[in-house]
Amino acid sequence: MRRGGFLGRWGMALAGLLALAACGGGTGAAGAVPYYGNYHPPGWIDGTRGQKAHGAEAVAGVSACTRCHEISILKVGSGVPTCMTGGCHHQSTPNFADPAVHGLRAKLAVGDVSGGSFFSCEICHGKDFSGGSSAQACAPCHGTPAPHPLRPWRAVGGSVLTHATSDPSNAAVCAQCHLAGSSLNPADHPALPAPAATQPGCFNATLCHGGELAPHPVPFLAGLTDAAGNGHLNATAAAFSADCSTCHAYAGTSPATGAPLCSVCHRLADPVASGTQAGTCLSCHAGAPGLPLGPSGAAFPSVAGAHAKHMALPTALTCDTCHAGSGTGTGAHYTNANARNGAPTGPAPVSMDAVFQSQSGGATAFTTASLTCSNVSCHGGQTTPGWVAGTLNSATQCMACHKVASTGTQYNDASGRHANPSEHNTTCDYCHDMGLAKPGAQNHFKHLDTIAVRVAPDQLPSDTILFGPNVTGARTYTTTATPGRGNCTLTCHGQSHNPEQWQ
Ligand code: HEC
Ligand code: HEC
Ligand code: HEC
Ligand code: HEC
Ligand code: HEC
Ligand code: HEC
Ligand code: HEC
Ligand code: HEC
Ligand code: HEC
Ligand code: HEC
Repeated sequence: MRRGGFLGRWGMALAGLLALAACGGGTGAAGAVPYYGNYHPPGWIDGTRGQKAHGAEAVAGVSACTRCHEISILKVGSGVPTCMTGGCHHQSTPNFADPAVHGLRAKLAVGDVSGGSFFSCEICHGKDFSGGSSAQACAPCHGTPAPHPLRPWRAVGGSVLTHATSDPSNAAVCAQCHLAGSSLNPADHPALPAPAATQPGCFNATLCHGGELAPHPVPFLAGLTDAAGNGHLNATAAAFSADCSTCHAYAGTSPATGAPLCSVCHRLADPVASGTQAGTCLSCHAGAPGLPLGPSGAAFPSVAGAHAKHMALPTALTCDTCHAGSGTGTGAHYTNANARNGAPTGPAPVSMDAVFQSQSGGATAFTTASLTCSNVSCHGGQTTPGWVAGTLNSATQCMACHKVASTGTQYNDASGRHANPSEHNTTCDYCHDMGLAKPGAQNHFKHLDTIAVRVAPDQLPSDTILFGPNVTGARTYTTTATPGRGNCTLTCHGQSHNPEQWQ
């Protein structure tokens, strides 16, 4: 487990305590040097006795220490321990090479009671992080001459590493490499230079972000946070008033020129107001909160279409069944719904999960002009009716999804005797009653997420057999273990089947 990732800042403090315990510490212990004994006051190591920790003192001004201590591994002089006395930095802190330990420690505030920060690392690793007296540069592990990971060093693509949680008091360290205009900075950061002699700061246009820029990534996607640690998609009323409202308003005029009104994109309602807040989707869509059954409105982007019908099928469908790669949390949804790029237009993207591809092959496709899908196994590979205006009554329109073929080309084709002799190629509901109280009839559409037509014992076609009025005699269909190999016992079209196997 990454202790730092789990325990956060307190984990760092704890790690520090463990480290220091192993070093002896001001409480007088094993590692103490005999000539001087307990030179510093108790609590000096970790700051637990109410004063600053020794690290914080060193960050405040290491020359106050170098009067007596050497910053080297070799101990020179009178026996005063050096800053790198074996066992202290960092061997006594478990997993120090783990980014969740040393990285979080570097990102702490300068002068923090813990003694962390990028400044603190510079004491031993050199002002430019090339090694200094520790002889350990940061670059070899990171793969770039930086005291941090490769670009973009932002929480994108599942990475938990981000520069956004570095305390801004480290700005002067960043300035060594990231002054405005540096080739290491992303393009257009910042748009306007800071007035001359402005001290380096993260958000004052001396480095990467200017006052006219957002303290958060643009686009502000799911999982990203701003300088105050708040996200976009999970913004609450409290976070809005404490943070976003310095620059943004929902409607009216934003306090900061350049910060768009939330209503630019959230056209229906305020996304932090009660009832239309995060998770409801109702700031832009009409429907039940969270759209569990899809939208239920009449206008874009909430056209109900056939959502209700599909979400009510016995097969549990998810939004990704048809909106694979788009929908909430995706870059596609954000981009398409970003009114700053241009007014969003329908139809929304539809991309079928490959599980539902028809047997005849060919990728499933959505035709926006007609709002129809093709190559979908649920519809037997046939082109579907239009999503919004089309209709399909599955109790009467069997042929909209089924075909009769001597050799089936679709998973649900009616094969065998259906085509031969031709007498059997009649109205389907002459022999199949999909309203029967038997599993085979009731479970029609239950296993659409499998390719099998029949998932025994749920979907036995024999369970659906009920003969039409012209059939006389015993009028029974007896089943065998093999579907399709049951026997008719009846008289029809002048023939006596007594009994006769279907296939
Ligand atoms: C006037 C000399 C002097 C100055 C200045 C000084 N120290 Fe020390 N320090 C010592 C001596 C002597 C010891 C060893 C005695 C001991 O273990 O208590 C020591 C021990 C330590 C220890 C190890 C403590 C232990 O119990 O293992 C740390 C850590 C330390 N100093 C940090 C610092 C820092 C950080 C500074 C600057 C803010 C500093 N010292 C300034 C003389 C000094
Ligand atoms: C033993 C190898 C090693 C050394 C030496 C090292 N790092 Fe790292 N550091 C890593 C690894 C691995 C990561 C994860 C990202 C990556 O692979 O680049 C990381 C990530 C970080 C992060 C990102 C943490 C986050 O949560 O965003 C910071 C900050 C960092 N290191 C600072 C430093 C500094 C400062 C130094 C030099 C004083 C240094 N590292 C030296 C291995 C190392
Ligand atoms: C008092 C001196 C000192 C300070 C301060 C210091 N380091 Fe180090 N660091 C060392 C020395 C010496 C080594 C090499 C020996 C070792 O691993 O302990 C080292 C090694 C490392 C390593 C490699 C560890 C490994 O297991 O391979 C990392 C990562 C690292 N330092 C990061 C940092 C970061 C980040 C900071 C600032 C938060 C920092 N160091 C502050 C002295 C220091
Ligand atoms: C010693 C020089 C150096 C220092 C100091 C430094 N960086 Fe960097 N930074 C780099 C380099 C080199 C890169 C390019 C990394 C790469 O090759 O991917 C970079 C890239 C970045 C990026 C990615 C930019 C992009 O194009 O996506 C961010 C963010 C960043 N640094 C933030 C910081 C912050 C925050 C600090 C201060 C805590 C800092 N850097 C300190 C050298 C430095
Ligand atoms: C310090 C001012 C400031 C704060 C605080 C701030 N923003 Fe912004 N925000 C901006 C600016 C400026 C832009 C326009 C950036 C641009 O176009 O480059 C922006 C743009 C945005 C955008 C549109 C991004 C896009 O993809 O076009 C969203 C969404 C956003 N902010 C949400 C938030 C949220 C949510 C918060 C609070 C958690 C917040 N902002 C806090 C200044 C701020
Ligand atoms: C800022 C307004 C906004 C919010 C909030 C929003 N949507 Fe959307 N959504 C849209 C727009 C606009 C479209 C149509 C975009 C297009 O044409 O691609 C859309 C389309 C979709 C689509 C169709 C696929 C796609 O990516 O276009 C799905 C699925 C969807 N939204 C689900 C949701 C869910 C679930 C939520 C709530 C968790 C939500 N949306 C919140 C504006 C929004
Ligand atoms: C540039 C367009 C844009 C602007 C401006 C914008 N948002 Fe969003 N916002 C979106 C989109 C798109 C989504 C839906 C993202 C998704 O679900 O994938 C969204 C989702 C949200 C959600 C989650 C909604 C839900 O139902 O789950 C909240 C909360 C939110 N935004 C808050 C804000 C706040 C607060 C502001 C103003 C500071 C703002 N947004 C400005 C585009 C924008
Ligand atoms: C059976 C396939 C299917 C499933 C499952 C499905 N959708 Fe859709 N959805 C579509 C089609 C087709 C459209 C395109 C209709 C249009 O653009 O008019 C669409 C469009 C949308 C739109 C945009 C409506 C508009 O006015 O353009 C939203 C929002 C949406 N779906 C949300 C959802 C959500 C949320 C879920 C999951 C609860 C979901 N969908 C499940 C097929 C599906
Ligand atoms: C919307 C398309 C669609 C329509 C309309 C449709 N079916 Fe089906 N049918 C399927 C699919 C797909 C399967 C195979 C997968 C399943 O049932 O889950 C299937 C399977 C069957 C089966 C064999 C498995 C079972 O569930 O019993 C029979 C028999 C059947 N259909 C008869 C009919 C009859 C008779 C009608 C008209 C009353 C009809 N179907 C209308 C798509 C359709
Ligand atoms: C003359 C009676 C009859 C008619 C008419 C009929 N079927 Fe069948 N069908 C059967 C029998 C019998 C079975 C096999 C039952 C079993 O599994 O033992 C069957 C099986 C099926 C199956 C399962 C796959 C297969 O081929 O074994 C499907 C799908 C099917 N029928 C669809 C249809 C459709 C669609 C129509 C209308 C075009 C239709 N049937 C017309 C009697 C009929």
